[in-house]
Amino acid sequence: MNMKMKNYSDKNLISFKEAPLKFDNGYAPLVEAMRRYKENPCTGFHIPGHNRGQGVYDDFASLIGIDALNIDTTDEFDNLGTLFPSTGVIDEAQRLAAEAFGSKRTFFLTGGSTIANLALAFALTKPNDKIAIGRNCHRSVLSGMIISGANPNWIMPKKLDDWAIYGSLDAISLRKCLEGDPDISLVWVTNPTYEGVVSDIEAISHVCHEFNVPLIVDEAHGCLWNFSDILPKSALKCGADAVVHSLHKTGGSMTQSSMLHISKNSKFDIHKVEHALKLLHTTSPSLLLLTSLDAARAYLSSSKGAQAINNAIDNALYFRGEAAKIDGVRVLNSKSNVRFDITKIFLKVDGLSGKRLESILELDFQIEIESASDEGILILSNIGNTKEEFDVLLAALRKITASNYPDLAYLEGIKFMPLTAPKVVMSPREAYFSKKERIKKEDAIGRVCAEVIALCPPGISVLLPGELIGEEHLPYLSDFSEIDVLL
Ligand SMILES: Cc1ncc(COP(=O)(O)O)c(C=O)c1O
Repeated sequence: MNMKMKNYSDKNLISFKEAPLKFDNGYAPLVEAMRRYKENPCTGFHIPGHNRGQGVYDDFASLIGIDALNIDTTDEFDNLGTLFPSTGVIDEAQRLAAEAFGSKRTFFLTGGSTIANLALAFALTKPNDKIAIGRNCHRSVLSGMIISGANPNWIMPKKLDDWAIYGSLDAISLRKCLEGDPDISLVWVTNPTYEGVVSDIEAISHVCHEFNVPLIVDEAHGCLWNFSDILPKSALKCGADAVVHSLHKTGGSMTQSSMLHISKNSKFDIHKVEHALKLLHTTSPSLLLLTSLDAARAYLSSSKGAQAINNAIDNALYFRGEAAKIDGVRVLNSKSNVRFDITKIFLKVDGLSGKRLESILELDFQIEIESASDEGILILSNIGNTKEEFDVLLAALRKITASNYPDLAYLEGIKFMPLTAPKVVMSPREAYFSKKERIKKEDAIGRVCAEVIALCPPGISVLLPGELIGEEHLPYLSDFSEIDVLL
């Protein structure tokens, strides 16, 4: 399968070592290689079987376009390099990403940040290790604990009760946690929160260094930070050992594509992490997704990308200012004494639950927002949004607040996140693999949960295997009629 590698790479591929780091003109080697791949087709007898779109359902081909099918391929073929181990042009693209993000090593991933969290847990923790984790972590961190058998020592972030969301995680709570248990071997925090609340990672990192414990920051929602001085500082610049970025969420790459960075001064063994990724990651990574990561990196590093980020910030500021003038609209902002990423806008409208507001926007105004909770809605000011789109949203909010939309009881009944400290009875792994039964949720009070209950978005846990189910959890389980509990 690599028979033509020499010729092809010699003639057609730009070598990373020779190529200048011309970020400003958007140098993207994988994009360039894929263009050449498209324009110089081989006669292919390999996967994917549709063979550049020749074997697909017509309507699907016309829906996504033959160009997309033409470049739908995986690594190893046509001299595009391999992901694990990273070779060829894929390696070049990853190196450029490491350069752009300021890491020692950056891995491209096609299984989202989920695969990054799983691999970090698999590589760096082992049975009965104690890991200090912010309770607002994504469920993939917890899945990692189930795989490895490590035990979370939960750190409760602050609560923003008026908004029914988690706030920041502070260094003082972390210090108490580390002082309370000298066996803790790793700290794992999520920053920013899904709603954009930012923790002081420099202070957290300082505490970690003091206790000589490495730090992972799940910065899934903060991949733009590295490219703007106005946005918060990336954990890669604050002393974290590993940082996870969902480029596909806000960075402009395609859905499911993410990056995992190992920072320059990281204490982690990169080979262990790579090995875990190799075991967990698909063996057929989509070149389309990998190329989109290279393209996103090139774009964000370019002056055009910088302008797009500035626009996203300006639009967010504009929207925040205008929304604050609408009677009945309240926006989570710095007056609420919280530091946040201003491109993530959490707001509520008096008299309407977030869920009801979401459905009004969707049904009556054809506006789709990022998510809704019982209290409010989350709006993202993205690099792909225009000011005009924010005007459409503002006009809708003005109409809604001037009308008499009633909230609906069935939507009010939905609750989002309990924000309570869990009552842990046994480790997630032990509970997950114990004998269980499925029972009605009303009968589950007082029983020990045997499954991960973490609705997406934001994928934060309501209940985890090994935690005691209480009456307080029921309002948050409206999507469940039955639950797995331990026998
Ligand atoms: C904080 C956080 N980490 C990780 C993930 C998983 O990311 P992905 O959807 O890219 O797998 C999410 C997803 O929402 C998340 O919010």
